[in-house]
Amino acid sequence: MKVLGILGSPRIGGNSDLLLNQALLGAKEMGATVEKIILSRKKISGCIDCKKCNATGKCVIKDDMSQIYEKILKADALLHSVPLYFWAMTSHMKAYLDRWCAFFDANWNWHRAYVERMKGKRMGLITVCGDPNPHTADPIVHSFRETCQFSGMTLYPVVQVSAGQKGEVDRNPKAKKEAFDLGKKIATP
Ligand SMILES: Cc1cc2nc3c(=O)[nH]c(=O)nc-3n(C[C@H](O)[C@H](O)[C@H](O)COP(=O)(O)O)c2cc1C
Repeated sequence: MKVLGILGSPRIGGNSDLLLNQALLGAKEMGATVEKIILSRKKISGCIDCKKCNATGKCVIKDDMSQIYEKILKADALLHSVPLYFWAMTSHMKAYLDRWCAFFDANWNWHRAYVERMKGKRMGLITVCGDPNPHTADPIVHSFRETCQFSGMTLYPVVQVSAGQKGEVDRNPKAKKEAFDLGKKIATP
């Protein structure tokens, strides 16, 4: 079982990062091979809606997404962790997600080159927001849930946490356990 962690926060050692590490530890405990991608350290441009990928299944933009597509395809499960910025996901995560366009055809079905590897892929999501109500980050959940629903991926129960200061979540054992358990669950064969 291969689990790919994808960090959407630029704050290394911040709350989303710490929770993602917990989730990956949980996955490791289940015997999974884990890898983490820090999106803010990658060069990922926004989708330009050129539609070339509809036919080819390949994005024309040559940047770090090229390697990330390969890692996504090879992974059995994807674990995303992202904070709320202005009631939405961070620009790093949005650029990455928009580039998923290349996995689909003109009718928003999986491109024939990927259907076998993408359908049923396990998806995990952790959201963090400064607001005391963790559901303030629900717009991010909506985006991932709808993406999974229309494309037939399986979204595991989302972990939603409130934390503002860098690393604050380290003093929240409940949140850390929830993230750890998500990692275990998503890596359970
Ligand atoms: C540019 C920016 C916008 C933010 N917007 C919101 C927001 O709309 N709602 C909210 O509850 N928190 C907001 N926050 C707070 C972050 O979600 C919070 O600090 C979170 O812990 C950051 O996670 P990280 O440590 O993983 O980077 C914002 C923070 C930044 C830097």
